[in-house]
Amino acid sequence: MGGTDVPTLAEGTWGLREALRWGAKRLADAGVARGEGAAREAAILLSHCLGIPTCRMYARLDLVEPEASARYAQAIARRCSREPIQYITGVQEFMSLAFAVDQRVLIPRPDTETLVEVVLEHLARRAPVRGSFADVGTGSGAVAVSIAKYGDCGGFALDSSRGAIEVATENARRHGVADRLVFLVGDLLSPLEGLGLGGTLECVVSNPPYVTPDEYESLDPQVRDYEPREALVCPDTEGLYGRLADQAAGLLRPGGLLAVEVGYGAAELVADVFSADGHYCDVGTRKDLGGVDRVVYCERKREGGG
Ligand SMILES: C[S@@+](CC[C@H](N)C(=O)[O-])C[C@H]1O[C@@H](n2cnc3c(N)ncnc32)[C@H](O)[C@@H]1O
Repeated sequence: MGGTDVPTLAEGTWGLREALRWGAKRLADAGVARGEGAAREAAILLSHCLGIPTCRMYARLDLVEPEASARYAQAIARRCSREPIQYITGVQEFMSLAFAVDQRVLIPRPDTETLVEVVLEHLARRAPVRGSFADVGTGSGAVAVSIAKYGDCGGFALDSSRGAIEVATENARRHGVADRLVFLVGDLLSPLEGLGLGGTLECVVSNPPYVTPDEYESLDPQVRDYEPREALVCPDTEGLYGRLADQAAGLLRPGGLLAVEVGYGAAELVADVFSADGHYCDVGTRKDLGGVDRVVYCERKREGGG
């Protein structure tokens, strides 16, 4: 940040409103956000750099100290480069819980709350029995931690990325469910092989990577250039859902739930994959808040039928 941008910074402090106006203008000039959106983002970044919630920031502060100003200028510069605001603040809310996020993990999306809701409804139908679940591709742990917390149960959080498992473990600690979750690194459900879990899991849930390599190239740079590629891209989506269904069939109890998130327009294909597997019945789909078929689910068949 040049001194000419912020004359009062050279004197050591600047006013809160001035700082907010400056940040919003930089974001607008960079084409990252406009109008109220730019003002909101500037406020989020300033309150993050000050270490106080936005509402208290407006009530209490009129001067911004030099250290916080420097942090804020850096945060605005990162955002102007289109880095997602969640990686700058290090947090994303999901299911009303604050999850730590960094570039090792996908930023949890609101649409994925639909997946958690499908699982929680299944668990509620099974109450008071509390079976365990496996979350495949746990990332930040948003799905696994939410299910463990709201479903009052435990299970396995799996990911092929060691960095993701580290972030998920931290989030489980943060939300008081670390003692109910086992974190393992590996491909899909293979870390559970040999643990003697066959036919015992109540639920297998997954939001796997489902963007094709072609689609990846045309993603918003904010996503493509910052979020982990392995969290987004899958060269063979159909094959991945097929392998997951096959592995899950050996682990789920009869009547247990397999629920997955799918990309736009892919629900029918994935439902067909689950039907064709032969181990599942009651295949269904659930729409997200935007009206898109976002979740495909089915139940493990009981012996001799549905
Ligand atoms: C779309 S992200 C989902 C993250 C998190 N569950 C969420 O919903 O926000 C997919 C995750 O799957 C992981 N992953 C990709 N391929 C995998 C595989 N073959 N086995 C296990 N995890 C995988 C990625 O590292 C990433 O963390």
